[in-house]
Amino acid sequence: MAEAYELRRGKYAKLDTPESDSGSPLRRSLDDAYRTSSDEEDLDEFDPLNYDAGTLKRKKTRRPRGESLRGQETIPSEKAGTRRRWYCVSRMCVGLTLLFVATVVLLLSVGGIWAWKSVPEDGQSPPWYPSPKGGTDEKWRDSYKKAADLVRQMTLVEKVNVTTGVGWEMEMCVGNTGAVTRLGFPSLCLQDGPIGIRFADNITAFPGGITIGATWNKDLIYKRGRAQAVEARLKGINVLLGPTMGPLGRMPAGGRNWEGFGADPVLQGIAAAQTIKGIQDEGIVATAKHFIGNEQEHFRQSWEWGTPNAISSNIDDRTLHELYAWPFAESIKAGVGSVMCSYNQVNNSYACGNSKLMNGILKDELGFQGFVQSDWLAQRSGVASALAGLDMSMPGDGLRWADGKALWGHQLTKAVLNSSVPMDRLDDMVTRIVAAWYQVGQDDKKKWPAPPEGGPNFSSWTGEKIGLLHPGSDDKTTGVVNKFVDAQGKGEDSHGKLARRVAAEGTVLVKNDGDILPLSRKGWKDAKEGQAKYRVGIFGEDSRLNENGPNNCPDRGCNVGTLAQGWGSGSVDFPYLVSPLQAIYEAFEGVAKVTDWAANKIPKEKEDLLHDQDLCLVFANSDSGEGYMQDAGIRGDRNDLNLQKNGNLLIKKVAEECGNGNGSTVVVIHAVGPVNVEFFVDLPGVKAVLLAHLPGQESGNALVDVLFGDINPSGRLPYTIAKKDEDYGPGSKILYYPNQIVPQQNFSEGLYIDYRYFDKKGIEPRYEFGFGLSYTTFHLSSLLISPKSFKKTLLPAPRPNGIEPPQFDTKVPDPSTALAPEGFQKLSKYIYPYISSVKDIKVGKYPYPPTYNTPPELSPAGGAEGGNPDLYTVVAEVSASLTNTGKVDGDAVVQLYISYPENYVDEETGEPVDFPVKVLRGFEKLHVEGGDKRAEVKFVLTRKDVSYWCTRRGNWVMPTKGSFKISVGFSSRDLPLVGTF
Ligand code: NOJ
Repeated sequence: MAEAYELRRGKYAKLDTPESDSGSPLRRSLDDAYRTSSDEEDLDEFDPLNYDAGTLKRKKTRRPRGESLRGQETIPSEKAGTRRRWYCVSRMCVGLTLLFVATVVLLLSVGGIWAWKSVPEDGQSPPWYPSPKGGTDEKWRDSYKKAADLVRQMTLVEKVNVTTGVGWEMEMCVGNTGAVTRLGFPSLCLQDGPIGIRFADNITAFPGGITIGATWNKDLIYKRGRAQAVEARLKGINVLLGPTMGPLGRMPAGGRNWEGFGADPVLQGIAAAQTIKGIQDEGIVATAKHFIGNEQEHFRQSWEWGTPNAISSNIDDRTLHELYAWPFAESIKAGVGSVMCSYNQVNNSYACGNSKLMNGILKDELGFQGFVQSDWLAQRSGVASALAGLDMSMPGDGLRWADGKALWGHQLTKAVLNSSVPMDRLDDMVTRIVAAWYQVGQDDKKKWPAPPEGGPNFSSWTGEKIGLLHPGSDDKTTGVVNKFVDAQGKGEDSHGKLARRVAAEGTVLVKNDGDILPLSRKGWKDAKEGQAKYRVGIFGEDSRLNENGPNNCPDRGCNVGTLAQGWGSGSVDFPYLVSPLQAIYEAFEGVAKVTDWAANKIPKEKEDLLHDQDLCLVFANSDSGEGYMQDAGIRGDRNDLNLQKNGNLLIKKVAEECGNGNGSTVVVIHAVGPVNVEFFVDLPGVKAVLLAHLPGQESGNALVDVLFGDINPSGRLPYTIAKKDEDYGPGSKILYYPNQIVPQQNFSEGLYIDYRYFDKKGIEPRYEFGFGLSYTTFHLSSLLISPKSFKKTLLPAPRPNGIEPPQFDTKVPDPSTALAPEGFQKLSKYIYPYISSVKDIKVGKYPYPPTYNTPPELSPAGGAEGGNPDLYTVVAEVSASLTNTGKVDGDAVVQLYISYPENYVDEETGEPVDFPVKVLRGFEKLHVEGGDKRAEVKFVLTRKDVSYWCTRRGNWVMPTKGSFKISVGFSSRDLPLVGTF
């Protein structure tokens, strides 16, 4: 029993789960080819309704903290009567329903035949086998050495234990791996996420990714990452599930764009790398997610949307490299310890079973040394995903939530024993995980003591102090699950202060007629003695708190009150939320007469509130989130880019009637991404517009900082704001209805998303990418481009060899060593590595993917973390002089864009190569004092920055003929300095 305890924490419960070995998906799915034909068979007993019920149960399990169960409804007797009547009616409906279902099935099968015919059985993603081994990069040498030493001592079941989650809600975190306590390797706690610590108390609700992206402030981005990791460490979390850099923002209405940093790969890449460095410098493993092409929520995963298969994002090789994989390359270059593969398919092969993506791109070409974990239930096959490069199965459940039928766990043990997964693949998986743990220093026992002193000290599943230890199982054992550790930092280091700074710097001022902003703390800007009090009216629901508390809706899945984060797994519980209403009242206390109507409809009898004002502050918003929840008809992705809850009408009314037409209106918008502002932005009453994004817990305070000029606005748009939704181009449209049985999303616009599309088509945006105003003015001069001496060749230098990965004994152990110890008692649905009988193990010649033993040529673009090191050779330095020509101090975001040589043709084949008009390659934020003070801004350009991905060569190519245009300025359309290189 003691030995058993070492493997999984706390399992002294009765044996009540029969092993579910029959029909092992592990033996059936061997390649992407086999995936479609075999794993989907596992779904035939799968009832989508059950899945929903499961999801619902999952959501209900955890009440928002601080709320009681009061107010639960029972069905009154009249309702029961109504039910009976409905039942009679429903009998008549049965026929119709069946007819409807039959028609749908028929239509879907027709689509299915079409899809089957149009999509090759093995998908459209080339095979890449076998999986490259970790431990080839010098920077990871020590960690791999230590990891290999530890892994060599592990038994087969111990190794499997490290690779597989224990199942949904089985332990305290959203993901938990099994421990090897015998050797001092803990159960790893994996927790969301990108804006703070999900499902935890006493943490900070930081501003959303899109807000930090809008700051364009590298230092602040690093600090936010680091502060999140401090909180993670204090809560006993090993792996943070963030940052998010996919979705990239191909579709402006994409539900989860707000988790990432903006619609450009370089902005995403720099922000992701800074966040990762911050997180990992504090000793937490960061996760770059979601790899790759998860650009929309609709159909992102099997069955969630009724379709048996997830959507396929069909992306060509060049676009993949130059857009979607770029931030992942930057993350790997920054040393990220984990990458999460996404739910969707890419080129008709599941991202978590796609050997080209995981083995080829991540591990070979980008030299990734950490481990690939699946998104929650994104793994759709057993053996196939192991061979394709997946290293960790999360949350450990298989194709369905919490049914105890894992794809790995005991199935992986079996697969290794029967030879369908080679021992060296398992060793590599485990070593990658253990090496990442060493790499961030989690073997330091002082910082990371073993449980009970260490380990997670909070529960994701209850806010109570005492709770179930394994809520996902039938086990009723309870214990202290919440220790309420305050992780928020104190005094000057309080994370709330940092959150406030980020929220203020992530607020973008896009209109400021007559310099209405900043407001004066004295009320009237030039207040005279005895002058009547300045009258300020606050309007809109988005200015106040949700009356039921900021955490009223699970995972923030409703838009009530002021919007400060989006919804889904990327959300956190607010420790508090400062509403704009509260902060503005406080800020004007004693100097102005402040009144409010914090709703979106102003009734006739309240219109005086509008008429009797000098200044009106009107609030509106637009929300979205993850696709497992919906709110007000929004299923993850937004339905359009309009303000929600009649925000447009409210703003128009306020702008037209404020002070009977003589008042000034300042519009404040909280939104997950771009919104259409055409309805109101040119109204004469609208003097200023602030896009405050998702500000987190310090919302009101941060807004006041900007409104009064305590912080000079320096946020810049991390996306384009169009005049019409169509202006973003056909590729920007969410696929809301399935177009095939396997929904297909062709990324046929290629490189042309966001500003690149506007540039190509010559479309005038309302506000361009990179745009934002300040309370001061800046001037740029003295552009200097200094080419460095480097070898001007089309291709980078040959890839370096790297170091030798660790070697392991590949002998498969005797199956009897994988049996559970005698008397071992299993918890229901808990995922264990033990096989139930040696008779199940049938060693044989399993059909490996055909190319398994003929490895492809290693990518010439690889050789180190982030790719061939020569790609990062500096080819030019660029500098310019920045002058603050205004009176007040301020921060400018200086942006550098490059344009490739015009009419360029491949220097060997003569084929024309198409390029965007310009692409962002760098940015710097500088603080300069007012009154003509100057600062120098510097950039470096690398070989990769001036190369393009050539699919034919499978490499980055740097044009050596023609000249590059280098443009430096304040936005993608305001580039006063231009030079050539
Ligand atoms: C699914 C989400 O897509 C992912 O981002 C998250 O980390 C996991 N759930 C765990 O909550």
